[in-house]
Amino acid sequence: MEETRNFPADFLFGVATAATQIEGGDRNNNWFQWCELGKPHQGDHCITANDHWNRVAEDIGLMQQLNIHTYRLGLEWSRIEPQPGQFDPEAIAHYRDEIQQLLTAGIRPLVTLHHFSNPLWLEEQGAWTNPQAVDHFLHYVEYAVRALSDLVEDWITINEPNVYLAMGYIEGIFPPGKKGDMRSYFRAARHMVLGHLQAYTLIHRLRAERGLAPTRVGVAHHLRIFEPFKNRWLACQSSKLYNHFFQDIFLEGMTQGRLRWPLGSGHPFGEKVFADFMGINYYSRDIIKGSFNPWTLFGKRTLLPEAPTNDLGWEIYPEGLYTLCQSMYQRYGLPIFITENGVCDAADTLRRAFIYDHLDQLLRAIADGIPVQRYYHWTLMDNFEWMEGYSARFGLIHCDTHTQQRTIRPSGNYYGRISRDRALFRL
Ligand code: BGC
Repeated sequence: MEETRNFPADFLFGVATAATQIEGGDRNNNWFQWCELGKPHQGDHCITANDHWNRVAEDIGLMQQLNIHTYRLGLEWSRIEPQPGQFDPEAIAHYRDEIQQLLTAGIRPLVTLHHFSNPLWLEEQGAWTNPQAVDHFLHYVEYAVRALSDLVEDWITINEPNVYLAMGYIEGIFPPGKKGDMRSYFRAARHMVLGHLQAYTLIHRLRAERGLAPTRVGVAHHLRIFEPFKNRWLACQSSKLYNHFFQDIFLEGMTQGRLRWPLGSGHPFGEKVFADFMGINYYSRDIIKGSFNPWTLFGKRTLLPEAPTNDLGWEIYPEGLYTLCQSMYQRYGLPIFITENGVCDAADTLRRAFIYDHLDQLLRAIADGIPVQRYYHWTLMDNFEWMEGYSARFGLIHCDTHTQQRTIRPSGNYYGRISRDRALFRL
């Protein structure tokens, strides 16, 4: 007989997506321009993506087939505010309609306001390196939240500020393609932290003014495990630096409103908590080997030789999810939402075990008293995977890039059964 273990009756299973990765059709954001320059893999372009903009009903139907309780979707800022201060009522009406369809289907929305892409006009002003980005962001948030607040309780202000900034200003592979520009990384990081802190208060205020409660606002943090190789001294120091500059300045800043060096100091908006949940996007671990290169924080990110990996060569390390839930709960005491977790696996040979092993770690955390409340699998269907274009396949649903034909993968059906029964079973 199959052994099954239950999740709590109020646990929510979901899927996550991002606007630029699935919608198609928008020419007004920085990723459109980046694709025009031919930057992503083999010239792949986000202009088509999954054509989700025109296939909302079909995609919600697929979510229903997967028995999804909650859907994390993104808004495309550049559609909603095509020019600074000019808002497009049709764009916001489209999102309102999509959210209404979700609610009718019994699916609870979790809305992300910023997920890697900026309107072109903001990009031209230096994006988040420009202090004015904070006010622009708040202006857009106010418009979007006013328009949707009666329908949406749960919000993510910003997705993975660390990845967005590291890829754009250090690695130089996301727009604006700057390499090793640490100054811009920290400048923009400071502005994103300040943007989140004010957006947190604003969203709560806008809903409270309409007598709407409860409201949940948080950040989707990209968290990795940085593990020092054989606990060697230099590797340990380097791992601390990675934790500080890649994770802690964002965690402390956005959760507790505390600016840490080099973003600033003190609590500019008071000593409070600025998150109602801890959003964790978890994919992998890095083994840090000591190195004498200060530009890589005295470390080299590597893998153990026997490490299982996905199609992109990322280590599959489920225990890391438990470790993060435990350390985040210890530090911040907030309920935990796993806002992304998934695997690049075109052949669909890894995904079922990946899902099983990661959910198993969540059950372990829950058994230890850690309030893990939601899990969003990344992602609903194969999409535009940023620099990997259409070559990297993370979907529970296969999507044919040419015909847009969607086909649920066996792993999708597996996840659908887990979600339906709120129970984990091995295949
Ligand atoms: C991002 C997603 C991305 C996923 C897989 C996360 O870093 O939030 O947009 O597609 O990882 O690469």
